[in-house]
Amino acid sequence: MFSRYKKPGAATPAPGAMRANGASAQPAPKPVVAVAPEPESTSMRRPLPKVAAQTAPQDKERKRRERLGDIKLELHRALLDNLNLAALDTATEQDLKGEIGAISAELLEEQGIVLNREERIQLIQELYDEVKGLGPLETLLKDDSVNDILVNGPHRIFVERGGKLTLTDITFKDEKHLLRIIDKIVSAVGRRVDESNPYCDARLADGSRFNCMVPPVAVDGSLVSIRKFKKDKLGIDDLVRFGAFSEEMAAYLQAAVSTRLNIIVSGGTGSGKTTTLNALSSFIDNAERVLTIEDTAELQLQQVHVGRMESRPANVEGKGAVTQRDCLRNALRMRPDRIIVGETRGEEVIDMLQAMNTGHDGSMTTIHANSARDGVSRLENMIAMAGIEMPMKAMRSQISSAVNLIVQASRLQDGSRRMTSITEITGMEGDVISMQEVFKFQRVGLTPENKIIGHFTATGVRSHYSERFRLWGYDLPPEIFEPKDVR
Ligand SMILES: Nc1ncnc2c1ncn2[C@@H]1O[C@H](COP(=O)(O)OP(=O)(O)OP(=O)(O)O)[C@@H](O)[C@H]1O
Ligand SMILES: [Mg+2]
Repeated sequence: MFSRYKKPGAATPAPGAMRANGASAQPAPKPVVAVAPEPESTSMRRPLPKVAAQTAPQDKERKRRERLGDIKLELHRALLDNLNLAALDTATEQDLKGEIGAISAELLEEQGIVLNREERIQLIQELYDEVKGLGPLETLLKDDSVNDILVNGPHRIFVERGGKLTLTDITFKDEKHLLRIIDKIVSAVGRRVDESNPYCDARLADGSRFNCMVPPVAVDGSLVSIRKFKKDKLGIDDLVRFGAFSEEMAAYLQAAVSTRLNIIVSGGTGSGKTTTLNALSSFIDNAERVLTIEDTAELQLQQVHVGRMESRPANVEGKGAVTQRDCLRNALRMRPDRIIVGETRGEEVIDMLQAMNTGHDGSMTTIHANSARDGVSRLENMIAMAGIEMPMKAMRSQISSAVNLIVQASRLQDGSRRMTSITEITGMEGDVISMQEVFKFQRVGLTPENKIIGHFTATGVRSHYSERFRLWGYDLPPEIFEPKDVR
């Protein structure tokens, strides 16, 4: 019956043996808690959201899924016993699905289970995803509207679409199932997670960034976070169209990147720092040699002359680590015109500032911070944590001469991502780094649907770099720097 994908000599397990696997003894997913309507409130406070973003599956749909889940688990085991795993790599999707269909039809018949056409197609797809891919995560990985996938234990999978988090009705069968998928991901990159080594970073085959943490450190089941890889990264025009910044700001940023100012993109987690950095890099001249250094390679530069580096954690024996700092030091010997560090978060800050100060101007990086001022403090902290003993004034003057511009990315409460400020570092006044904000996002209110109303405006200050821009042939019209008062 089974052709080339069947393990030689493998027999179909007896129906009894399959039923003995205890699958149906697994706890069912917790039902969504219904919330009783609250009495009319006289409070001056806004009502709290009743239940976190929920999309409760219909009862019938949930039962069908549970039933399919039980059958699927048994079938998956049977498939692993029956399929010739070595031949899977070369099998086409169509062939493999045909084979899975044949094996499952036989097993379903033996068990006396009848499925309709739709259920059968879905079952085959899910089994295919289990065998070839990452099980329940596959559907979400294929969905282009999903930015982030966040798994809180086997029965709660959240996704982020358009800046908003929602709970999906997709679940893993149980913690064992989730752990099996995690293991599949981390073992593909030569790592393992277990009690003694409970968390891990990895990159999925499609380039998505993956992080997991397993019990007992993760208390209610394994935690997984995936930042989906976007093949078509958002460019400057897309970001202007989406309202992430204004045309005037784009013109200013083009001048800043082209005239080789050193730029730091600052922002909170998921605020769009990497996206902004990637978009800014599009202004780099094709003739320049750019080296990028990242913990997980996410940047996609369009230039011809790009060298990409990715740091590496130690292996199981604790050997072979290559840190961002190691890459950065080596990069300095590779004749770069510009260096781009995906995110500065530790001791590499010293080498980054030195690179910015010593002829690699036009370099860029991102940091986790909530404002330009906060970003400078973060840099100071990172220098101090790296064990460099330096008087505060010397440290600040190093920062102020290295960094020219801090671009602040933010994810606002309505889920929109915007560049809320562009700040120039202009030098030192006594012991303090002096800065001036050139552009900002001016909030003016909130719509009844909780959408933020606001506009981008210049602050009215003349750019500290106007003369530099002019000398390099980027004579920006003065209107760009005039404040707007749109109400
Ligand atoms: N202006 C924007 N409009 C719509 N989507 C955006 C915008 N900026 C970023 N995104 C999307 O938001 C997600 C997060 O962006 P990004 O990876 O750049 O954030 P980050 O600040 O680098 O996050 P992290 O702190 O996790 O590294 C991505 O999926 C990206 O495509
Ligand atoms: Mg990032």
